[in-house]
Amino acid sequence: MLITPSRDNLNRIVVLNPKGGCGKSTIATNIAACYAGQSSVPAIMDFDPQGSTLAWLERRPSNLPPIHGIAAFKKSMQATRSW
Ligand SMILES: Nc1ncnc2c1ncn2[C@@H]1O[C@H](COP(=O)(O)OP(=O)(O)OP(=O)(O)O)[C@@H](O)[C@H]1O
Ligand SMILES: [Mg+2]
Repeated sequence: MLITPSRDNLNRIVVLNPKGGCGKSTIATNIAACYAGQSSVPAIMDFDPQGSTLAWLERRPSNLPPIHGIAAFKKSMQATRSW
């Protein structure tokens, strides 16, 4: 977990592993779901062009606590990389 000193409620958890299919997307979505509904709305920044976490977000029922999704893998200006 990367702690942002000036914002004690804005932390980043980086999930990465070079091995395919080892559970990165699964653990990222589970962590986000864990934080959703607590003090603030979490954001998932997906750097994998596969976009599995964004597909998961699209299927997440709308009555559940919100989670932001960012297609960080996009190279265009449409994708924000800072949050
Ligand atoms: N802890 C776990 N126990 C059992 N199965 C798991 C676990 N975590 C993930 N899986 C399963 O392993 C498969 C791959 O998981 P996932 O897609 O999260 O991996 P990934 O690292 O994101 O893959 P990719 O490199 O393709 O992006 C999925 O079918 C998922 O359901
Ligand atoms: Mg994945």
